[in-house]
Amino acid sequence: MSRLSFENKLVVVTGAASGLGRELAKRMAVAEKAHLVVADCRADRLETLKAEIEAVCSSKVHVVSVDLGSGDGAKTLFEKATALGNVYALINNAGLSFFGKTLDRPFSAYRELIQVNCLTVLETTTAFLGYFLEKGEGAILNVTSLGGLVTLPYQNFYAATKHAVQTFSEGLSSEYRNRGVVICTFAPGGIATEMITKSGLDKHFGENNRVLMHPERAAELAVRGFKKKKLINVPGILSKLVIITQRIIPRKTVIRETDRIYAPKKR
Ligand SMILES: NC(=O)c1ccc[n+]([C@@H]2O[C@H](COP(=O)([O-])OP(=O)(O)OC[C@H]3O[C@@H](n4cnc5c(N)ncnc54)[C@H](OP(=O)(O)O)[C@@H]3O)[C@@H](O)[C@H]2O)c1
Repeated sequence: MSRLSFENKLVVVTGAASGLGRELAKRMAVAEKAHLVVADCRADRLETLKAEIEAVCSSKVHVVSVDLGSGDGAKTLFEKATALGNVYALINNAGLSFFGKTLDRPFSAYRELIQVNCLTVLETTTAFLGYFLEKGEGAILNVTSLGGLVTLPYQNFYAATKHAVQTFSEGLSSEYRNRGVVICTFAPGGIATEMITKSGLDKHFGENNRVLMHPERAAELAVRGFKKKKLINVPGILSKLVIITQRIIPRKTVIRETDRIYAPKKR
C-alpha cells in the first residue's frame, strides 16, 4: 500500500499553539516538508511558531486565528484555510479536558469542551471531506484519545466526545473508502502537555509523571501512522496493553480498575 506524502502540500493543523499540535506542525514542516495552515485561538503563539519553522526550513506557514469553541469555528477555519491554497490534509488536534467528578461542574461548563472536541471536529471533518472528495484526494487525521476507546471515569465528558469522534472517523473511512481520501485517527494515552495542568490531571498524577509521553515523540508516532494510513493508531506499549486487556478482561472489571487509578484523591 502506498504511503502518504506531504511534501510541498498544504496541511492544516488545529490547536497548533501548544503541546501535540505544535509538535505536529513542526514535524509536518521540518521532516515532511509540508506547507502549513496553523490554527488556534492564540495568534501570538502561532506567529512565534511560524517564525520558528520558517527559520529552519523552506515551508510556508499561514496563521489562522480562530475560536473553535464557537458555533461558527469550523466554517471560519474551512473558509480561511481553503482560501489560502489547495489544502491536501487536515489534522483536527485542538482539544481540552476536565478532570474531576462529572457533577463537580454544571453542564454549561462543559459546552466549550463538547464544541471544541466534538461538534467542531465533526463539522470540520465533514466540510473538508466533501472538499477532498471533489478533488479525489486528501487526508484527515483526527486526534482522539485512549479515552475514546475505553471508559474513563472522572473525564466522562472528555471521553464521550473522543468516543464520538473515534466512531465517526471509523465509519467515514468505511463509507468513503476507495475514493482517494484517507481518514485516520491517533488515540494516545497521556502526553506531557499543558492539557495535563489545565484539566487538573497534574494534581492527581503529577505534572512530570513518567507514564506521560513527550509531545515530540507523540507527534513523530502520529505522523508515522498517518503516512501509513493507520485507521486507529494507538502509540506506546502501555496504551496498547490497555486495549488488549479490555478485550480479555470483563468490561466491568476494567472500569472498576480504571476508577481505582483515576479516582480523585480528595472526594
Ligand atoms: N495531553 C494528553 O494527555 C492527551 C492524551 C490523549 C489525547 N490528547 C489530545 O491531543 C490533542 C492536543 O492536546 P494537547 O495535549 O496538546 O493539549 P494542549 O497543549 O492544551 O493543546 C491544545 C490546543 O488546542 C487549543 N484549543 C483549545 N480550545 C480551543 C478553541 N476554542 N479554539 C482554538 N483552539 C483551541 C488550545 O489553545 P488554548 O490553550 O488557548 O486553549 C491548545 O493550543 C487534544 O485533542 C487532546 O484531546 C491529549
